[in-house]
Amino acid sequence: MTVRRYLIAGNWKMHCRRSDGTALAADLAARVGPTPDPRFDLLICPPATILAPVAHAVAGSAVLAGGQDCHAQAQGAHTGDIAAEMLADAGASSVIVGHSERRTNHAETSTLIKGKAAAALRAGLTAIVCVGETEAERDTGRAEQVVAGQLSGSIPDGATAANTVVAYEPVWAIGTGRTPTLADIAAMHAMIRAKLVGLVADPDAVRILYGGSVKPSNAAEILGLADVDGALVGGASLKADDFWAIAQACP
Ligand code: 13P
Repeated sequence: MTVRRYLIAGNWKMHCRRSDGTALAADLAARVGPTPDPRFDLLICPPATILAPVAHAVAGSAVLAGGQDCHAQAQGAHTGDIAAEMLADAGASSVIVGHSERRTNHAETSTLIKGKAAAALRAGLTAIVCVGETEAERDTGRAEQVVAGQLSGSIPDGATAANTVVAYEPVWAIGTGRTPTLADIAAMHAMIRAKLVGLVADPDAVRILYGGSVKPSNAAEILGLADVDGALVGGASLKADDFWAIAQACP
């Protein structure tokens, strides 16, 4: 059986200024220390404006820093955009691509997201590719079909377990306090694992995260499911105690 290390990733979204962001990062770095926990990797993804100071604050610890989005191109006339290479230069080791808030607020398609994920690989970053159905899609029985389509459309050529992570985030569970049943999470993760055959060289080794209202009180039962290899955490990642409690819930 393939052993996969858990990945507990914090998506800070559009929160934190330099002072509170670096304080939160330093708090987590002190808890983790210089050696990675045997169970999990801890990643924080601050806004791009404070990525460099946050990466500096966790330097020397096993805490990793990442970006929340990137452009597909390495450079060019793209006002306001940030290249994956620039995130790497600022201290990122990963980047989230295709978050539902990007798919919705910026009309990002799976084709575009595939280009961004390919850019992450080109820059030496791990791509965290997000997928997830809306409530209407689940209510009409199309959740698995939608997620399968997003996956096949968004995973780039050359994806491996070493450079690509999948995050399943049902849109209706994000920031709502609602989560799917454990059976529904397990079923979706098993479907994603099966669908990765043909998309990545080593599907058994790819980490599949669950995201959407993960908190200390539900982390253990979610992280205990087969094929759940970590969590992508929004709101609860902004409090060191809560984020740390979620990481400590890794089996
Ligand atoms: P919440 O944990 O706040 O529901 O957000 C989840 C998310 O969107 C992480 O990317």
